[in-house]
Amino acid sequence: MTALNVVVGVAGGIAAYKACHLVRNFTESGANVRVVPTPNALEFVGAATFEALSGNPVDTGVFTRVDEVQHVRVGQEADLVVIAPATADLLARLAVGRADDLLTATVLVATCPVVVAPAMHTEMWRNPATQANVAALRSRGITVLEPASGRLTGADSGPGRLLEPDQIADLARTVLETGPIRRSLEGRRVLISAGGTQENIDPVRYIGNRSSGRQGFALGEIAAQRGADVSIVAGDTDALPTPAGAEIVRVRSAREMQREIDARLGSADIVVMAAAVADYRPEKEATAKLKKGEADANLSTLRLVENPDILKGVVEKRNAQQTRAVIAGFAAETDNPLEYGRAKLARKGADLLMVNSVAGGRVFGERRNSGWILGRDGSETEVADGSKLAVAAQILDAAEGVLGRSLPN
Ligand code: C5P
Repeated sequence: MTALNVVVGVAGGIAAYKACHLVRNFTESGANVRVVPTPNALEFVGAATFEALSGNPVDTGVFTRVDEVQHVRVGQEADLVVIAPATADLLARLAVGRADDLLTATVLVATCPVVVAPAMHTEMWRNPATQANVAALRSRGITVLEPASGRLTGADSGPGRLLEPDQIADLARTVLETGPIRRSLEGRRVLISAGGTQENIDPVRYIGNRSSGRQGFALGEIAAQRGADVSIVAGDTDALPTPAGAEIVRVRSAREMQREIDARLGSADIVVMAAAVADYRPEKEATAKLKKGEADANLSTLRLVENPDILKGVVEKRNAQQTRAVIAGFAAETDNPLEYGRAKLARKGADLLMVNSVAGGRVFGERRNSGWILGRDGSETEVADGSKLAVAAQILDAAEGVLGRSLPN
């Protein structure tokens, strides 16, 4: 297989230093990376750094390597162009189709997917001029990612922070897999449960599970990039970056998760229950550590009581018209996944169920997933093996389909 040709464009903002990690991410996955900074980007990071990391020459202007017609060739040969960070000025130059440096010329030539990760102060990001430029680029099929919210260069914070390099790389790969990210969830609220719950036995022990939260966060990532207002009620998860602008509510137990989900249900348009919720919890939570061998500790026979089924409760609230949300659940099955999945969908009353086979410990903590999306209408869509972001895109496509049929815009 020939290596993927990735152009990493870098504009002149302080976040340019994070482009080094992005270059590294792509080279480590076997890509051939060509870094194309703007002249101002080199005020922040030297050409030598980008040359060493990419193993390729670094130029900024259209008058270098003229004999090779470089200002056209770099764009022609690219399989993917990722620009991080993109400043307000670069967005403006891209929007009007300038070709006054090697990076803008490359974007003008490229016919491959182009993914742009902006970084700037909140005022600049929100300025109608910038927003118009972003809208123009998106209307041409360029994926302009929503920036993260958080600490900016000075003491201020807000939307405009560059997404984490690994987040950008993963989203760019998803664009390669599934096409440009559409803004199909603007004005919609998406509520997601993610990760595993923990049920305390005593102050140091708990009953937990192997869910990593990756699929739930991937759903939040795609929904946020599609323009939704996202809340993720997260139990125990791996250390995962926050999807742009998403509210992350940390919980431990199933009952805490239920409380936080219920509090946000009324305004949700789509609810996806990706969490692995403990079905049972210890009947009593000891306030002091239970000691091995002590009679009243009873560690060899824990009495358990059933936890609420949060998904079922959400469906009941929809039936009682306390929410109009489209509801999707997950089913992890070790055998006969389709048969058990279909029965579970009927039992839970959700609109959609993503069924995956977890035989032999597959899926948990992995970055890839596959399976089937079952619909209450009898539909069955196979989800081919792909990244959890690509799978998230397909689950949201299905949920948006149900939303489109059930709600006026
Ligand atoms: O019944 P089972 O645990 O296999 O169902 C899985 C689906 O139900 C997932 O969407 C999960 O998030 C949800 N669930 C829940 N509350 C529980 C158990 C599962 O919301 N107590």
